Amino acid sequence: MRATKATAPGKVILFGEHAVVYGRPAIAVPVTKVQATATIEAAAPGSGCAISAPDIGARIRLLSAPDDPLATAVRLALEAAGVDSEPDWNISVTSTIPIAGGMGSGAAVSTVLARAVLSSAPTFDGCPDAETVNRIVYAVEEIHHATPSGIDNTVVVYEQPVWFVRGSPPETFDIAKPFLLVIADTGIASPTGQVVADVRAARQKDAARFDSIFDAIGAIAEEARRAIAAGRLEVLGVLMRENQQLLRQLDVSAQSLERLIEIAEGAGAAGAKLSGGGRGGNLIAMVEPEKVDPVREALLAGGAANALVTEVGA
Ligand code: PMV
Repeated sequence: MRATKATAPGKVILFGEHAVVYGRPAIAVPVTKVQATATIEAAAPGSGCAISAPDIGARIRLLSAPDDPLATAVRLALEAAGVDSEPDWNISVTSTIPIAGGMGSGAAVSTVLARAVLSSAPTFDGCPDAETVNRIVYAVEEIHHATPSGIDNTVVVYEQPVWFVRGSPPETFDIAKPFLLVIADTGIASPTGQVVADVRAARQKDAARFDSIFDAIGAIAEEARRAIAAGRLEVLGVLMRENQQLLRQLDVSAQSLERLIEIAEGAGAAGAKLSGGGRGGNLIAMVEPEKVDPVREALLAGGAANALVTEVGA
């Protein structure tokens, strides 16, 4: 076999996280400045399949780690390709996407593994189709947390801005004018599954209150979609502030996020909010071009572990 390489981007959710688990719409976009990469090389005959992830110090054998998310992505892709014996492969996966940071790192790693395996499998002719990859990645997301909405895998696999409603086919959406976001990392890893489970437990105690917060978040996502399609970018900062206020009410924010959100808005961002599961991870700030440098610098000076700029709709 020839060596195979696959890449996939990270993502941010612009509006609608958490409410999307309960059927409300959400908007997410790929972030190509960070990415996961998988390579597959032939190993000596009879040596079997090894997966290494040097970023997290992991080295596993395909057959001895049946529940591991990396091994599961490879196994499901081999099944999809109709390969029923263990191939002699060395698979390596690396990623510049922060782990447990709300930027889709898990989905991107599964995506590159699925793509690389499908492309390498001798039985598979042609490019791995997005639907197959998406199905595999969703199944792996279910290991990370029990009730993934499907938004992470969808935006990462299709590499397009996504208007997402759980259970409906993914749609992309119109972006009349490109806009800039600063994405800042609190540096605090926060596994999504835990936060989603906490929201679920809290909702069980007060469903009416939580459902009305989810409705309000869904309405913000709808309004944001209309604003993005009409090029009314000045509305987006306001909507981010409103969405963040509702995320606070869900108790998924954190002091680290609040501090950096205040810093971003103080340095001239039109609005900012956490992105993804929350309690740590990343925040996004809506910025006019002339505010990009001051906002980025203020975030870094204020303790952000990283701050990068992405253009949506370019
Ligand atoms: O933290 P991330 O990147 O996995 O995003 C999670 C988004 C949630 O809405 C909180 C969960 C989900 O499954 O949609």
